[in-house]
Amino acid sequence: MSNLCLVLCICVTVVVSNGELQRFIEPAKSDGSVSFITIGDWGRRGDYNQSIVAYQMGRIGEKIGLDFVVSTGDNFYDNGLFSEYDPNFKESFSNIYTASSLQKQWYSVLGNHDYRGDAEAQLSSVLREIDSRWVCLRSFIVDAELVEIFFVDTTPFVKDYYTEVDHTYDWRAVPSRNTYVKSLLRDLKGSLKRSKATWKIVVGHHAIRSIGHHGDTKELNQELLPIMKENGVDLYMNGHDHCLEHISDEDSPIQFLTSGAGSKAWRGDINPVTNNPKSVRFYYDGQGFMSARFTHSDAEIVFYDVFGEVLHKWVTSKQTLHSSV
Ligand SMILES: *[C@@H]1O[C@H](CO)[C@@H](O)[C@H](O)[C@H]1NC(C)=O
Repeated sequence: MSNLCLVLCICVTVVVSNGELQRFIEPAKSDGSVSFITIGDWGRRGDYNQSIVAYQMGRIGEKIGLDFVVSTGDNFYDNGLFSEYDPNFKESFSNIYTASSLQKQWYSVLGNHDYRGDAEAQLSSVLREIDSRWVCLRSFIVDAELVEIFFVDTTPFVKDYYTEVDHTYDWRAVPSRNTYVKSLLRDLKGSLKRSKATWKIVVGHHAIRSIGHHGDTKELNQELLPIMKENGVDLYMNGHDHCLEHISDEDSPIQFLTSGAGSKAWRGDINPVTNNPKSVRFYYDGQGFMSARFTHSDAEIVFYDVFGEVLHKWVTSKQTLHSSV
């Protein structure tokens, strides 16, 4: 039965991929709100405070009535998974995020480290049989009624990865960079245009704006950001830089939110030159995570450290956000 379902699902995906990304439905709560936690750059078998961050996520998840988890990629270090039977999946995921509030769907994108292993393994249904929380696709949509989250596979955008000598990347699904990116952006644009959600969020592994170690990703600035601006996106969430940060765009309502501090953090590694300091509202180079809560009118973003202490809280309404620019 489940095999049949799987076959059907795969067929449907192929058919609808003509201009439309695969969609997962997460119904809003009866009070009309949606709450989730965003975490990035985490899978290190509990090391570098990963287990402590996981514990605090469980506690906060309980408190906010967590609906699901968003993972911004670099799910398994150092080189992703080597196959769908890699014990690292259980050791860094199932055995770490054990709190009852975290027994919800986890929606993940791939990071560059995931591409250094068998990227296909993380997309495999075998992992869902091992732990049914796991949903990892290249690009897809989570439709939570008032909030629509558009997950984008950002690793293939970065041109340097194709010429790197120190690492090899699993490009089996990316025979041509430009063709892949063009078709992804076309599908994203179509999906954004058709979206009727109050809040539109884009999630990718790489930062568009960051003052952390890696800084801005120029390909995303050039190719992804204009589509987001044209189509009324409110927030962009990413990992890659091992820190927590909140940066406002200068000429659009878009807020750039980095949550890449799920385990090993970059301490003291700041790159302030790439941004106007005025637009940086918050930066923390230790470990932690972020929560997000939405209603039809309001959004609340909160960043926490390994003690579960609130580091930065940002509350806005749709109206305020769009009239401030
Ligand atoms: C764990 O977190 C504490 C508190 O932020 C920090 O002092 C410590 O260095 C962290 N340990 C590691 C291994 O990152």
